[in-house]
Amino acid sequence: MSENKKAEKIVAVKGMNDILPSDAPLWELFENTVQSVLQSYGFQKIVTPIVEDTALFKRAIGAVTDIVEKEMYSFEDAMNGDALTLRPEGTAGVVRAVIEHNLVYDGPRRLWYKGPMFRHERPQRGRYRQFFQIGAEAVGFAGPDIDAELIMLCRRLWDDLGLDKIRLEINSIGDAGERARHRADLIAYFEANIDQLDAEAKRRLHANPLRILDTKNPAMQDLVNQAPMLLDYLEGESVAHFEGVKRILDHNNIPYTINPRLVRGLDYYNRTVFEWVTDALGSQGTVCAGGRYDPLIESFGGKPTPAVGFAMGIERLIELMKLAGEPAAPNQCDVYMVHQGEQAQLQAFVLAERIRDAGLDVVLHCAAAGGAGSFKSQMKKADASGAAFAVILGEDELAKHSATVKAMRAAEGEAQQASVAFDAVVDYVVDQIVGHDHDHDHVHYHH
Ligand code: HAM
Repeated sequence: MSENKKAEKIVAVKGMNDILPSDAPLWELFENTVQSVLQSYGFQKIVTPIVEDTALFKRAIGAVTDIVEKEMYSFEDAMNGDALTLRPEGTAGVVRAVIEHNLVYDGPRRLWYKGPMFRHERPQRGRYRQFFQIGAEAVGFAGPDIDAELIMLCRRLWDDLGLDKIRLEINSIGDAGERARHRADLIAYFEANIDQLDAEAKRRLHANPLRILDTKNPAMQDLVNQAPMLLDYLEGESVAHFEGVKRILDHNNIPYTINPRLVRGLDYYNRTVFEWVTDALGSQGTVCAGGRYDPLIESFGGKPTPAVGFAMGIERLIELMKLAGEPAAPNQCDVYMVHQGEQAQLQAFVLAERIRDAGLDVVLHCAAAGGAGSFKSQMKKADASGAAFAVILGEDELAKHSATVKAMRAAEGEAQQASVAFDAVVDYVVDQIVGHDHDHDHVHYHH
C-alpha cells in the first residue's frame, strides 16, 4: 500500500492564467487574424527573449513609473548574479534588438511580435500578472503618415474581428522642450495644491510630475483634470505632426476623439499617443495603446532613429470577442477511428496514418484508465469529437478486409453507413468530405 498522504494541491501563480483547449480555438482565430492584418501592411515578425537585463527596462520605461517602481518581476541570476527581469512589455526588447543587429542599416522597418508579458499588478478582470500582447513597432519612420497607418491597421483589425465597440483616443505630448515648459507649470500647479496630493504624487512631484497625471487614485481625478494640458504647449513641428496625423485619419473616415489628458504610463513617448478603449470590459477598458518614441533609440546609443508602435492586450480582446458572440468551436478531427480487438487496432493504426497522409485530421481511439472501452462508448467519443466520419474496425470488418464508414453528420435520407474495402477507405473518406464541403463549414481539410 502507498504511504503517501494526500498530496497538497499546487495551483497556478496568482494572476497567471491557463488557456484551456475550450478557449484555444478563439485565441488561434484571434492571432491568425492579427497576423494576417499585420502582414497585409508589410510588418515582419521578430521574437526577442522573455528575460532581459533589468537596466534595459529601467532606462526605456523610466525609473519613476508604476511598472519600474512596483510591477517588475526582477531577480538575480543565481548562477552569476546578473540583474534580470521578466519583460513587462515588448518595446524595450525590440529596440535593443534593432540596435544590437543594426536592423535599420538599410532603411526603416515594420516589425511585430507577440508573447507573454509580466507585471506584478493587483489582479482583476482584464488585469493579470502574466498577460499576452501582440505589438507592432515601426522603426526609422519620422512622419505622421506611419502614425496614421498604425492606427488604420488597428481599425481594420477590429473590423476583421467583428468588434465595433472600440473607440480611438489620440493626443500629442510634444517634444522634450515643450514638455519641459509644461512640466514647470505642472509642478507649480501641483505645489499650489499640495494638500490634495497623495504620498506617491508628492514623491513624484519633482522626479516625474507627468506620471501624476495618470494616477489611478480616484480622489485625485478632479485635480488632475484641471491641470495644465500638454497639448496647449505644442509648437511648430509638433503641431504640424499632429495635424498631419489627423488629416490622414479624417481623409480615411477614421473616427477619433482628442483626449488632452492622455499621457500614457511609460516615459519613452513623445508626440503622438493613442489608446483604443471600450466600455464593455469595466475598468480595464484599454485594449490597445501606443505612440511615438523618437528619442528612445538614440538614448540607447543607437543612431537617431524615430519610431512609433503599439501593443494590444490579447486577454481583453478575447473577452470582447466572447461578448460579441463566440464562433462555434471547430471540430477536433475529420475522422474518428473506432476499433475492437488487437488485430483491428493494428489495422486501425495503418488506416489512420494513410488518412492523415491524405491531409485529414484523425483521432485514433486510445485506451483510457478504464481500458479501450466498448464499441458503444467509443462511438460516443466519436460523436463528441465532431468528426464527420467514424471509421469502424471489428472482427467482422477484419474478416471482410473492409471497414465500416459511418457518416456522423449525415442529413436524413443520405447514406449513413457503408462497407468500404481497406484499400479504398482513404479515397472514400476524402471524396465524401470534399463533396460535403459545400454544406458543412469544414475547417479541417487542408488540401
Ligand atoms: P501598455 O499601455 O503598458 O503599453 O500596454 C498595452 C496594452 O497591454 C494595454 O492597453 C492592455 O490592453 C494590455 N495590458 C497591459 N497591462 C496588462 C495587464 N496587467 N493585464 C492585461 N493586459 C494588460 C505598452 O506595453 C507599450 N509597449 C505599447 C507600445 C508599443 N508603445 C509603443 N510601442
